[in-house]
Parts: sequence; C-alpha cells; structure tokens
Amino acid sequence: MIVLDKENRVFTLHTQNTTYQMKADQHNILLHTYYGPRISGGDLSYLIQYADRGFSPNPNEVGDERDYSLDTLPQEYSSCGVGDFRIPSIEFEPEDGSRLADLRYADYALHQGKYSLEGLPAFWGGEEWETLVIRMRDTAAKMSVELYYGVLEERDLITRAVRVVNQGTETVRLQRCASLCLDFQRDDLDFITFDGCHTMERCPSRAPLRPGIQSVNSLRGTSSHHHNPFVILCDRGANEDYGLCYGAMLVYSGNFQAAAERTQLENNRLVLGIDPYNFCFLLAPGESFTAPEAALVCSPKGFGQMSRQFHRALREHLIRDPYQGKRRPVLMNNWEATYFDFTADKLVDIAKGAQGLGIELFVMDDGWFGSRDTDLSGLGDWSVNLKKLPGGLEALVPRIQALGMGFGLWIEPEMVSENSQLYREHPDWALGVPGRPQTRGRSQLVLDFSRREVRDYIYESIQKILDGADITYIKWDMNRSLSDVWSAALPANRQGEVYHRYVLGVYDILERLRRDYPELLIEGCSGGGGRFDAGMLYYTPQIWCSDNTDAVDRLRIQYGTSFCYPVSAMGAHVSVCPNEQNGRVTSMETRGAVAMSGTFGYEMDLSRCTPEEREIIKQQTAFFKEHYDLIQQGDYYRLSDPFADPFTAWEQVSPDGREALVSLVTGPTQAAAPFRSLRLKGLDPSLRYAVNGQGAFPGDVLMEAGWPLPMPQGDYQSMQLYLSAL
Ligand code: GLA
Repeated sequence: MIVLDKENRVFTLHTQNTTYQMKADQHNILLHTYYGPRISGGDLSYLIQYADRGFSPNPNEVGDERDYSLDTLPQEYSSCGVGDFRIPSIEFEPEDGSRLADLRYADYALHQGKYSLEGLPAFWGGEEWETLVIRMRDTAAKMSVELYYGVLEERDLITRAVRVVNQGTETVRLQRCASLCLDFQRDDLDFITFDGCHTMERCPSRAPLRPGIQSVNSLRGTSSHHHNPFVILCDRGANEDYGLCYGAMLVYSGNFQAAAERTQLENNRLVLGIDPYNFCFLLAPGESFTAPEAALVCSPKGFGQMSRQFHRALREHLIRDPYQGKRRPVLMNNWEATYFDFTADKLVDIAKGAQGLGIELFVMDDGWFGSRDTDLSGLGDWSVNLKKLPGGLEALVPRIQALGMGFGLWIEPEMVSENSQLYREHPDWALGVPGRPQTRGRSQLVLDFSRREVRDYIYESIQKILDGADITYIKWDMNRSLSDVWSAALPANRQGEVYHRYVLGVYDILERLRRDYPELLIEGCSGGGGRFDAGMLYYTPQIWCSDNTDAVDRLRIQYGTSFCYPVSAMGAHVSVCPNEQNGRVTSMETRGAVAMSGTFGYEMDLSRCTPEEREIIKQQTAFFKEHYDLIQQGDYYRLSDPFADPFTAWEQVSPDGREALVSLVTGPTQAAAPFRSLRLKGLDPSLRYAVNGQGAFPGDVLMEAGWPLPMPQGDYQSMQLYLSAL
C-alpha cells in the first residue's frame, strides 16, 4: 500500500511486513527516512539529525545554515559533485564538461499495477502491484530523473528502476546511473556477498562494514561466477530465523557494482547498478536511458523469510508463462557422458539406456554442429554436422522420440570460433579493436550482439534449426567473459555503450525466441553458473547452476544460490563417480538427493549403469515426480550451513504446511560421532505427521525437539524424510 501525505510530501510504501519512506524537504531534497519492519507511518523525518560537520558543505540556498548538508543527510538517490562526498548514484557530463548532478524533487505519479521497462527484464503483474514514480530534476543541466517504485505487498518486495531524460538542447554523456541507492541511518550492519569462481559459484561471504567503501562487481560483461548481483545487509546477529536483513538484487545480466559505504557519521549507503567502468551513454536532446530494475526484500525475521519472499516473487512475478507454473521435464544430458565424441547411433544407445528410467527429455549438448569436434572450432556455424549426425536432426529427433523422450539442444549463440565459416565471412562481427589482436577465451571470440544484423543472422540460423525438427528445449550457453569491448558499428564517442547494448542485444534475441516459440523451454548457462541472475531468469526459467556436478560441492553452491533464487531455477544433475571435476566418490542416493533440489536430471551414460543403479534412478525420478510441486514450489528452509556445520540439511514445506521433504547429507565420516538431532522448520505445530509413512509425530515436537541424525558409516551419506500430515 502506498500512502501519500501530500501536505508534508511524505511517501510511505507499506508491504505486509515492512515499511519504506521518503520525504521531499523544504529544499526539494528527497530524503530517505526509513526502511525496516512495518510501522504505522507518520512523518519519520524527525529521525534525521542535523549538525554542522567539518568539511560537509552546504547548498547555496541555505546560506549560513551550516547544519544542512547533503553530505550528512540520508538521500533517496544521491547527487554528484554538489556536496555529498559519498557514493554518487548518477554522473553526467553536459557539453561544458562539468560533472555535477543536483537532483531536486519535482513531482510524482501513482498508479495501480506494475510499470515495465522497454527492452529490459522486470518483475510483472497486475492489480496486486502499485507503482509510484517520483520525478527529480537538475534544472541547470535540464536533466530529469524518474525514480520508479513497484510495491508487491504480499511478498514484501519493492522494485526500483530509474529513467533519465535529457530535456535540454545539448547532448549529455551519462557516465553512471545506479538502479538503487539506500541510505541507512545506522552503523551496525554486516555485508554479505555471494562470491566464487567457475565451478564454485555463490559462496556467501560475510563481514561487518568498516569505514569506507566495500564493493563487489563484475567487469566481465556478464554477471559472472565471481560475484552475484545479489547482496544482503543485515544486523550483526542476524541468522536464518532472527534479525533484520535487507536483500538487494539487480535484475540484470551484465557488468554490475554493489557498493556499501560506511560514512563519517557511521551510517551506511548501498548503491547497486551497472558498473561505471567503460559505461558512457550519449543522450541527445529528448533521449532517455533506463537503468535496469533492482528489487529489495526486507525481512525482520532473518534470512529464511527473506529468501522465501524472493523465491515466491521470482516464481510468481518474474518467471513468465508458460513455465511459471508448468512442470519441467526430468532430463538427461550427454555432455559428461560423451563430451564431443559422439555419433547419432551412440546418442541413441545412450537414450536407450535411459528408457524406462523416468527420463522425459534427452538433451544433445555441444559438438553437433559445424566443424565442432573440439572446443577449438565451429562456433557460429549453426548447421548440423552431417558426418556425426547423418540425416540431420530430422532423422535423429524421431529416433529419440520413439524411445519416449522429448529432444533438447545445446547452443552458444553469442560466440564465434576463428575456425568457422561465419568468422571467415564476417571477422568484424566479433568484438575487437582494429589493429589489436583479440584476447581469446576458451579459444573463442565474442560476437558483437550490440549489432542488429549480427543478432538477426544468428536468430535466423537458430530459427532454421528449431523449425526443422521437434525441439522442445534449448540450453543457451555462454562460455567466456567479454574482452576487447569495441563495436565496429558505433562511433568513438559511443563505445562506452557497447557493454550495455550487448546485454540488451542478448535480451532482444531471447525475447524474440519467446515470442516465436512460446512453449520452448530455455535453460540459461554460462560455463555453469556464470550468468545466474534475475535478468536471465526472466527469459530462461532455469539456469545450469554450476559446471561442478559433485554432490558435496553442490551442497555449498546450491546453499549460497538459495539465498536469493528458488529451487525451480537451479539446474542440477546427477553425474558419474568418481566425479569428473574433483574425483570425489559419493553414493547414487546422495547425488540424487542433492540434484532433485533443483530442476533434476542426469548427465551420464545411463546405458552403463548397473541394474542396482538403474533401480535407484527409477525410484529417484518417480519420487521426484510424485513430490514435484512440494520440491519446486514449496517454501524452502535452510536447516544448516554447509560451510560451518558437520552436515547439510534443507527442507521444503508445502504452502498449506501439510507436507514437507527434509533432505540431509552428512559430512566426512567420523568414529564415535556425536549424537545430534535436527530441528525441523515451517511445520504446523498443531498437526501430526507421518515420517516416511510411519508414526504420528506432532509438528511442534519435530520443530522443537527434532529428529535424530543418522550415524553415518562412510562419508557424505544422505537421508530424505517425507512428512505428511495425518
Ligand atoms: C559449458 C557448459 C557445460 C557444457 C559445455 C559444452 O561449460 O556449462 O554444461 O555445455 O559448456 O561445451
């Protein structure tokens, strides 16, 4: 609910459990007055303290009123170069070369429903949303800045976006445009980021904010394996169930920066948006720029509630029809089974091995096109390699379908190999500066997706493939970071637009696919989890979580990922042992328990499984399908921390509290292991539950007294408890 106090120019956004407030003051500065647990309201600007602080200057119009300084006031969207020396939200340069932004409140608009952003992913919905737009203006530069707020009350979600319009008569260079600025009038916050590398993504890292700026970012052109565009600020003591925490995500798949600053007054500012590195948009008179959407959830009850609100909001209002609610297939993927070494007959043999095991989709991974026998060649040539697959997809797909499975395909459309027909014909279609040898990544170059003709060519080649055979799924991969970012299609003064235009290009082609093939399921991927962000989720309802398929490493990766993203977004497969990435051996049961808390599938040659393994796989797929809604749509509870605890446990609870699935994996084995029990969460204390079909355990007892942990004989054993109310 948005409440306006017109007289005092106070804007209060209430969600079910939180309140957010700002106020335009007597100098038209938009002050941020409050964000936290839901309160009744009123004008909270009395909280703001005014005092003269040395070297904190004063706006011209306040004269000698030295205790009024932009440097000390909590601001809704920080200015630049006019007396606030903390992180600016915006920087622009008119033709005179000045770089000041003095934003003052102008007016507002309020409407029911959710705003959308042209060409950019954004949360969507109907009447359950309210939108507030506040217009700020820098009168000297004739720039208008519109701040968008979307309020989804039930999910405690507040979205933000920013649109900058050049209302003057000169061209302006926009050099920074954050999506979100949040000033906290408190000092005792921890900053949590989700960091890692290829094959070990999104590991939480937590530290108290110290004086100065702490930030994570990506300059890789994608959101990256290394830092996720999702961060948390929280109480020092916050944990899964207690404490105030604020989650902030960017709905964007390119360069980003999340910067938190602890100021001289021991207050904190968070700024989230596109990283200003090599970012410069030219805005001619009348032109505008829209910064990607950011979304906030504040939880007064710890991380668990924050995550569940994000999960629901992403599932219900970001992922789009038809895959929002539609069941995704249990798949098998041939990558770890064959790598590049396959023929049509070999694939059919593997698919035969999958028959009768409950697999619904067969995915042919890399190596089926052009001259692609290794990762040194072929990218860009999206036509079937007829030597490997005689008769093409038209011949192969029906053979797979005859075995009772749908057919899916891997593609990597944004890339080109130098050894390809496409590159020989259009070397300038790759990003790169003439006269400089390009940097290779995985021996490949990046196509300039900021260019329409490049996208059109690639789109048409994908269309030919999709129109030629019955393909129900594609895995959209992207296997290197961007470098040599320069576009042959743009003049020198527009090269700072290429990073962002590239991302817009990716979104454009994905949107076209959605328009032309609405039923096609697309799984995002970037060397596993290198582009695991809400921007991609808008187009690809699931994303391959990591190239690391080891169940034990996955416990950590999926744990970190779950702070923001739902189970239904996380691509997870069972693969062979010893694991191909780290050599670890785990049981089929453990691998299954971990992968089924994701989109679930197998990435191994199932024709080589023993009869015992086949039996387990059959049981796993049947169990997964039986409890699909609970696993995919249930409320998610983290029951332990795999980075700190001797075991990893998590739980899904159905929205009505009548069903739950608890999964647990023990750590390295130990003689004389201590006796431990696990306290469950989210159950109905007044109901009695059968556990794996046995007994009648009261919900309150299971939550307060718990369930005894197994005594493992061996490393990394798993246990699954299915609870159903009697
Ligand atoms: C990336 C993906 C893998 C696989 C290979 C194929 O690494 O993450 O799953 O598709 O590319 O080259």
